[in-house]
Amino acid sequence: MARRGDSRSPLQKCIISTLLVAVHVVGQEICDKAKCPGPVTYYQDLNCTPVYNNSGDCCAREYNCSHLKELSKDKCYVNDNEYDIGEYLRDEDKNPCDIGCTCMSINNGTASFSCALVSCFLPGSQYCFYRNNHDDCCPTSYVCSEEERKNTTCEVDGKTYRDGDYFRPKSDPDTDCYCMPGYTGEIVEPFCRKLKRPYCSPLFKHAEKVRKNCAPVPYNSRIPLKYCSYGYRCQNANDTVIRKHDDSSIVFKEEIICQFGDLVLNIGEELAQGTGIDSICVKCVCEVPPFLTCKRLSDSECGLE
Ligand SMILES: *[C@@H]1O[C@H](CO)[C@@H](O)[C@H](O)[C@H]1NC(C)=O
Ligand SMILES: *[C@@H]1O[C@H](CO)[C@@H](O)[C@H](O)[C@H]1NC(C)=O
Ligand SMILES: *[C@@H]1O[C@H](CO)[C@@H](O)[C@H](O)[C@H]1NC(C)=O
Ligand SMILES: *[C@@H]1O[C@H](CO)[C@@H](O)[C@H](O)[C@H]1NC(C)=O
Ligand SMILES: *[C@@H]1O[C@H](CO)[C@@H](O)[C@H](O)[C@H]1NC(C)=O
Repeated sequence: MARRGDSRSPLQKCIISTLLVAVHVVGQEICDKAKCPGPVTYYQDLNCTPVYNNSGDCCAREYNCSHLKELSKDKCYVNDNEYDIGEYLRDEDKNPCDIGCTCMSINNGTASFSCALVSCFLPGSQYCFYRNNHDDCCPTSYVCSEEERKNTTCEVDGKTYRDGDYFRPKSDPDTDCYCMPGYTGEIVEPFCRKLKRPYCSPLFKHAEKVRKNCAPVPYNSRIPLKYCSYGYRCQNANDTVIRKHDDSSIVFKEEIICQFGDLVLNIGEELAQGTGIDSICVKCVCEVPPFLTCKRLSDSECGLE
């Protein structure tokens, strides 16, 4: 009866797996990567690999983005697929709102996808709302029903959504979901569908910013870097580094450095502000290499009041 190599009783096995679950849950509670320093979401969107001081650390010391150096400036990249200039985005990589996307090289620059601008913000009213389906970009049906609006709510990650509302569950952020009657919390169709490509891969539309070592800048200093909630600060001719050490021999002694355009910064060093339109009241520091950590300063921090 007893199989070799597994002499534990069912009770022992049960205790062991309970412990594993407990450790896992505790680990998740302690390590919220969103609270770590550095442009964490940007690194995740770029598929960079975290490098830790000690295995078991929550926050990375730096990220390994060496795969980006292998990318060709004459190709577009989605998921694990390469596209040549002039190719259309294929169905396997296409989300519903990716309309007319073509791999293009503008001004002999780095190839990126360029798509049709799509906007389908359709405000509902108190008891009328739009129903989405996963095959179309914009909603296709308009529902007016007080009863349905009141009856249907979806509780997800501590938030309450109403019928027709869009959400992305934390447990599976590469999924689009709509709240509809019958949702029980499971991430399944017809409520949820896996994305064909991550929405915010910077390589999709902004490969040139990545290649030029620009830094992501969150749109608002109060919200942390979230999906697609950042723009870019790129190097211009006026940019300079505020050095921490007068002795320039200390500069670049460390292996772990940040890059911004063709400038190199040691950990703790920052860029001078106000060198161009995109750096007014933007503070960029080398925290978690290789990219800079930028934030927008409030008017008072910036002395504009
Ligand atoms: C990694 O170690 C260095 C040097 O001891 C330290 O300055 C840094 O804060 C550590 N980083 C993290 C994320 O623990
Ligand atoms: C980064 O990752 C690549 C593999 O993708 C590996 O070859 C390289 O040694 C890593 N670099 C560092 C500094 O860990
Ligand atoms: C485009 O860029 C390549 C490499 O950067 C260069 O060799 C070539 O001369 C450029 N062509 C034009 C038309 O600017
Ligand atoms: C809404 O809920 C009420 C009471 O629970 C029920 O009688 C009614 O049939 C529901 N209406 C719809 C449209 O689901
Ligand atoms: C650099 O600074 C000068 C003088 O302040 C300004 O006229 C120029 O537009 C700046 N250059 C860039 C690229 O922002």
